[in-house]
Amino acid sequence: MANFVKTEPQFETDYGYFNQEGTEYIIKTPRTPKPWINVLSNGRYGLTISQSGGGFSWLDHSEFNRITRWHQDMVKDDWGKYLYVRDNESGEVWSPTWLPVRTELDEYQCRHGFGYTIFHSRLGDIRITLTLFIPMNEQLEVWDVEIENLGTQSRSLTLFNYFEWALGSSNDHHREFHKNFIETRYDAPASTIWANKRLWDIALGTRGHWNIEHPFTAFLSCTEKATGFECDKESFLGQYGSIDIPAAVAKNTSPGKQGLWHDAIASLKIPIELAPGGKQKLAYLVGMYDTPQICETAISKFQTQTQRAAALNEVKTYWSDMLDAHQMETPDASINILANGWLKYQAISARIYGRSAYYQQSGAYGFRDQLQDSQVFLPIDVTKTEKQIKLHAAHQYMDGSVLHWWHPITEQGLHSGIADNYLWLPFLVISYLQETDNIAFLHEQVAYYDYEKSDSIYEHCLKSIMRSMQRTSPRGLPFIGAGDWNDGMSAVGLEEQGESIWLAHFLYYILNEFIDISAELNDDDSTMLFKGKAQALQQVIQDQAWDGDWFFRATKDNGEIIGGHECEEGQIYLNAQTWSVISGSASAEQGKKSLEAVERYLLKDFGPLLLAPAYTKPDSHIGYLSRYAAGTRENGGVYTHAATWAIWAFALQGKPELAFKVYQGISPIHNGMNPERYLGEPFVTPGNIDGPDSAYYGRGGWTWYTGSATWLYKMISERILGIRPSRKGLVIDPAIPAEWKQYTMTRKFRGTIYTIHVANPSNRSTGVSEFKVDGKSIEGNVIPPQLGETCLVQVTM
Ligand code: GLC
Repeated sequence: MANFVKTEPQFETDYGYFNQEGTEYIIKTPRTPKPWINVLSNGRYGLTISQSGGGFSWLDHSEFNRITRWHQDMVKDDWGKYLYVRDNESGEVWSPTWLPVRTELDEYQCRHGFGYTIFHSRLGDIRITLTLFIPMNEQLEVWDVEIENLGTQSRSLTLFNYFEWALGSSNDHHREFHKNFIETRYDAPASTIWANKRLWDIALGTRGHWNIEHPFTAFLSCTEKATGFECDKESFLGQYGSIDIPAAVAKNTSPGKQGLWHDAIASLKIPIELAPGGKQKLAYLVGMYDTPQICETAISKFQTQTQRAAALNEVKTYWSDMLDAHQMETPDASINILANGWLKYQAISARIYGRSAYYQQSGAYGFRDQLQDSQVFLPIDVTKTEKQIKLHAAHQYMDGSVLHWWHPITEQGLHSGIADNYLWLPFLVISYLQETDNIAFLHEQVAYYDYEKSDSIYEHCLKSIMRSMQRTSPRGLPFIGAGDWNDGMSAVGLEEQGESIWLAHFLYYILNEFIDISAELNDDDSTMLFKGKAQALQQVIQDQAWDGDWFFRATKDNGEIIGGHECEEGQIYLNAQTWSVISGSASAEQGKKSLEAVERYLLKDFGPLLLAPAYTKPDSHIGYLSRYAAGTRENGGVYTHAATWAIWAFALQGKPELAFKVYQGISPIHNGMNPERYLGEPFVTPGNIDGPDSAYYGRGGWTWYTGSATWLYKMISERILGIRPSRKGLVIDPAIPAEWKQYTMTRKFRGTIYTIHVANPSNRSTGVSEFKVDGKSIEGNVIPPQLGETCLVQVTM
């Protein structure tokens, strides 16, 4: 079977496996434990696609500018852009993606890859290959269809497709209102359905609410001539009908309603006649541009199979250039698959470009979220990180506060009392400087959100730090306000009395780094100030935030401790321990003890819990964190984003085996080997894994849309493989499993491509005993920046 992929399966289960290169996940049955999706995006146009054909499309904003309708249902997964195949002789109907018809297919495969998803199916003698992708620099998606008759009889088939138009805000559950603004038009010569909406339900416009045009033209076009069409849901499904067997498909009719104010859908009826052994290639195009003319030009670019193959190739090259820029080869295949491809793809395609997936459709930028995500670009293309830093700086107020999140398009957002957001700006600048050493970037000018005046990136960072330093309690610990990194601690400090210990560590980290940065910029006043504050902060952390065996996490407005011995629930929190070591704010003894406490109380089979024990009773002085079911999400689950920081802390503390245990615990590939328990996709990280206080211990959820993707990639390469950028050069500091005999990394760093071979003949897990740069032995473990285009580094542990 030429079309079905034959490959040496890796990490195979009953549901699927990775291909040999780890660049595709091949799903063997549409009945996965939960929808297993891909998120495709070229930076503007995006779509989600599940293994059974569910999903939706958008342009620029997955909530404000949705093209096709979709409603979140992780059980039915029955909102999609579906295809129906009808055999005109027998009347049999099926879908090449299994849903919505559910006819058992004789063969089925769904291959999720970087920038594309391919379905292979066969029912009897009819084999269909359906390839979905989004061409680069276009506002459309292609469904490339190849349909083959493997039999000896001629076959007469009809293809129908079906989806519902959203055209704007996803908030169109009041369909009887929204449908009144959508207009459709069938263009028979072009085999195209056009759709417009004359209302855009978002906060834009100057003449009152709900009073602007959705300024786009959307289309569904087919490269084959349609013999019928339908733009009205009722005509297609039949009143009380269902998408399983729409009336129009069952009867092979198309009443052909179009125009005004139907419940608007798009369906084309395409006849397919196949001789024995015959094959036909066609494509559907769905997209949305500013004008019908631009649509027509775009449609004309994908009419032939050659054009489409070239466009798909361009997409594949785009992703391989992006992902191959930083490669590692270790004895652990799961690490190679995740760090070389999937984690970066997840971070870029879903978190930064698409800002959407199945568990969360955001569309907005989270101030702290996409800043952290943009670290993924540092070893690949620093200009993309620069762009992200500037974008976020532009959402800072003059007083140093920032929007917690904001919507592109409307530029509106949430100006909240959350106390950590603004500090992620200097945090990112620190990461950026470690990679680039480009201090000049700090002079680049960006205006404030509430003021035309531009200031340098450095000034923006100072505003953040100053604001944080001013928001401190009389004893000098930062107020937590409406929350810190942990959004769910939303009510701890609403009266601006409660304190955050995690934030104290985080601020300490930033102050220490900015002592050097400000000195470099000859800003002596700030250097002095930061030194003084850092010292005082460290003192108060060590003296007042220490609970005996670990750091407590926060105090409430009334002074009660959160995350201490005396608490019945939520006795110990992860971030308050890991960051005490990462930031160096803890004394050596405290750091040691706090990570021992993490090991003892938090580190479980599937990674370290965010806190333990979980809250069983909501506490209105903590916030919605305590309202989650015990053991789920932030309430005593493994919150993978924070779990990755435990890799950092354990590696720093000289505990490589624990760092690796954290990796193995949260690795979606390892968890994916037990799909009935884990449920999530094996190829992307989940936001959370249920902890032992949940009835579903080990269940993964909230996949794709999580900050853990970038962080896990970063922790693997920088803390386990231990090859990380610093101002002085690339540091080599392994914290690996002792049984690894060697590993290799190829990485660009300040214009030079480094190939680094690390040999481990004596089964060590840390330390470098010898290392040579282009054949010359070097003292220490830092490779000074090189001038050449390439550099070969040989390290012996
Ligand atoms: C969500 C938020 C992120 C926050 C985390 C922990 O993932 O998007 O900003 O840090 O939850 O509460």
